Amino acid sequence: MKFPEKGLDKAKILDELKANQKRNWSFGSGRIFGSMCAMPLEVSIRAYTLFIESNLGNPGLYPATAEMEKKVVGMVGDLLHGKKVYGKVLSGGTEANISALWMYRNMARRKEVILPLHAHFSFKKACDLLGLKPVFVKVGGDYTVDIADMKRKISDNTLCAVAVAGSTELGVVDPVPEIGEICAERNLPLHVDAAFGGFVIPFLKACGRKIPDFDFLVKGVTSITVDPHKMGQSVMPSGILLTRENYWKYIEFSAPYLTSEIQSTLLGTRASGAVAGTYAAIKYLGFSGYLEIVRRCMAMTEFTCGIAKHHGIEPVVEPVMNILALRVKNARKVVKALHARQFFVSYGELTDSLRIVLMPYAGKKQIRELFEEGIVPLVQKS
Ligand SMILES: Cc1ncc(COP(=O)(O)O)c(C=O)c1O
Repeated sequence: MKFPEKGLDKAKILDELKANQKRNWSFGSGRIFGSMCAMPLEVSIRAYTLFIESNLGNPGLYPATAEMEKKVVGMVGDLLHGKKVYGKVLSGGTEANISALWMYRNMARRKEVILPLHAHFSFKKACDLLGLKPVFVKVGGDYTVDIADMKRKISDNTLCAVAVAGSTELGVVDPVPEIGEICAERNLPLHVDAAFGGFVIPFLKACGRKIPDFDFLVKGVTSITVDPHKMGQSVMPSGILLTRENYWKYIEFSAPYLTSEIQSTLLGTRASGAVAGTYAAIKYLGFSGYLEIVRRCMAMTEFTCGIAKHHGIEPVVEPVMNILALRVKNARKVVKALHARQFFVSYGELTDSLRIVLMPYAGKKQIRELFEEGIVPLVQKS
């Protein structure tokens, strides 16, 4: 496409964009069953646009946004049992995970990262970028980390360990207290990836579900990723990295032309809308609002699991959170065929399963359609 010679009329541009937007799938379409992203709350969208022009990369110009970021970090830190935590609002789980490993690499200059097999692929990106070596740890029968294998894999060259609280594929939670003990004994940092689970587990626990501690309650946990743009119901792109101590100083760079003079984030210019959107979501929902959302998502997950079982399709594990992986023959092919029928579920590679994420926008009618018009006929054929 050629770069336009002259500018166009605003209305024409917007008409074109509206037409383009119609060709995209929306969460409201009832067809998206595999995304972990939130349909942001209206209050978050409004907050985002309100702060559209402020850049947190240059915080001296935007003191109100910088203060709001501190409050967001404080509130999420409080939710995750951190007394005094350090943190920043980043662009998502990938940036948060990369930043955690970056800090640890600069602290210790060792090479090996103890990585559960079910860890998100952003850790592979992080290792590649930072010149680190992933040392994969097996998962056990319940698909969480095999502690004995983890112990065997720790060496003098271990930089840090990663645990997952809400795995991408199954939503399972690693035994963080046991991993924390191992790491504390050996003086190793432990990063917990709770990108999805961070805004789910505290509320599941409040409902009385038995889930291991995963946050700063565990002594050995040194940092946590948690994404507002997933179950935090906030706008994209927003992720948070929290650290127990000020490890941010290990990734500080001089930024003499900016008001802050130093910067300790991977991105330079940072969207303040993400901070405002997240602040608004947390203030609007509060603990009780998130609790209600998580309750509804879990009820929908159980409803979906029930339908699957009714059709003779078993879950890989009984769902821990609102992620359901189903044992389906030729799962990859079935997932592709579902896409062709405009049902957007996803494929779970580790367990060769069909994966459904029950986000707040999932409705019973759409789930019934997914099974009756999509999954069941295809599974019967395959
Ligand atoms: C557990 C986990 N960590 C990290 C990520 C990466 O997050 P993002 O896509 O926001 O970079 C994901 C994404 O689904 C995830 O499930």
